[in-house]
Amino acid sequence: PIDQREYLINGELKTWPGSLNPILSPVYVKQGNEIVPKNIGSTPLLTSKEALEALDGAVKAYDLGHGVWPTLSVTARIEHVEKFLAAMRLKRAEVVKLLMWEIGKTLKDSEKEFDRTCDYIVDTIKVYKEIDRNSAKLVEDQGFMAQIRRVPYGVALCMGPYNYPLNETFSTLIPALIMGNTVVFKPAKFGVLLIRPLLEAFRTSFPPGVINIIYGRGRETVGALMETGLIDVFAFIGTNKGANELKKLHPKSHRLKAVLGLDAKNPAIVLPDADIDNAVSESITGSLSFNGQRCTALKVLFVHKSIADTFIAKFNKAVAALKPGMPWDPGVSLTPLPEPGKVDYLRNLVEDAKQHGAKIVNDGGGEYSHSFYYPAVVYPVNDKMKLYTEEQFGPVIPIVPFENDSEVIDYVVNSNFGQQISIFGKDSKRVASLMDAFVNQVGRINLNTQSQRGPDTFPFNGRKDSAEGTLSVSDALRVFSIRTIVATKTT
Ligand code: G3H
Repeated sequence: PIDQREYLINGELKTWPGSLNPILSPVYVKQGNEIVPKNIGSTPLLTSKEALEALDGAVKAYDLGHGVWPTLSVTARIEHVEKFLAAMRLKRAEVVKLLMWEIGKTLKDSEKEFDRTCDYIVDTIKVYKEIDRNSAKLVEDQGFMAQIRRVPYGVALCMGPYNYPLNETFSTLIPALIMGNTVVFKPAKFGVLLIRPLLEAFRTSFPPGVINIIYGRGRETVGALMETGLIDVFAFIGTNKGANELKKLHPKSHRLKAVLGLDAKNPAIVLPDADIDNAVSESITGSLSFNGQRCTALKVLFVHKSIADTFIAKFNKAVAALKPGMPWDPGVSLTPLPEPGKVDYLRNLVEDAKQHGAKIVNDGGGEYSHSFYYPAVVYPVNDKMKLYTEEQFGPVIPIVPFENDSEVIDYVVNSNFGQQISIFGKDSKRVASLMDAFVNQVGRINLNTQSQRGPDTFPFNGRKDSAEGTLSVSDALRVFSIRTIVATKTT
């Protein structure tokens, strides 16, 4: 086990003498006669005192826009980020191993997450240079000449989710830094040890106070930060509940710039003339990649009544072909779930659907045990069941039969969420009219393909309770900065 005591404040790697938070893997192992979650280490349970020291470091490094970081030239800031990236690349094997042990992500997907994060940083640097070139240009209009500069907000608090603890976190952290903000970063609840191999890279790559990394209970540490009112940007990927609880602690929350990636219940609609094989294979990966633990996953499938039986037969066959196992096993796609209590939660959701008349294919599988849940396909799902609207964030796939497209339109319009939708079908008139109905409801419409975030150059956002602010390589840079105009009269 890795007993981590280090945390990063004001350019110094400190050693925590106090109590630690044990980190248990979703992978269970035999211990004597018992099967227990493997203890893989612990992280410091810092208090509000250390959190406030971290904030003090960030506040000083920003210094109302006159500090060491916001006043650096673009070239200099990029050099720091490039230095970090080079050091990070050397830690690939270590981070990938921890991704597998901490959150149960397969080897292939863990490597992909690491590489995608590095690519994100490279692309961000490229776009930043372009934004900076445009900032330097003068614009003339109606007798005025002006320069429109992009400047940082101030101190950013960055918190990422457990499902993409590296990629999602870094897609706010890096743009925040590159635009000149200083940062307090608290890693996700699970997927937390994997930041440790990068601590030294952060320390040596950035001036003191520019990036501070803390650990501990959310309410005690980041709660204390929020209460100071000194956080200018709140970048949070997680649940609405978590975001709202923290936001309301800020005494001037109306001034807080929030960048949020939140809950979703992305539907797929499979029309009668859809290519069923394609709809099945896209929905399988759409709903079950990383065991359905993606905010972008397909979380409810609306299938036209006339093709429902064929679709379900093929879908079940495809589920049965998925290989369960440990994250490092070759060809595996179903792996243990990191959230404690998740298996019981999914079981209850399925039980609720059963009580309301749904048939369950697989029933969570014979292999229900500990942190592993074999995908359950639930049909027919209706609005009496929790699964109809609740975000399951796991391997349970509700299938809703429909007759008229208006039923799906009503579902989407009445949903609290609005991240993405997938439409499977060939009739271009029908697809176009659905697109018209959805275009003002969701952040992305996918045609004959699954929902997903990538490519990372595409805007990533959502409507209603699904997001605030847009993330993509270029959007993120804009989100973490504000425009200041320097104008004069030419006549
Ligand atoms: O959970 C949200 C992630 O950003 C999803 O990314 O669609 O590429 O898996 P992805």
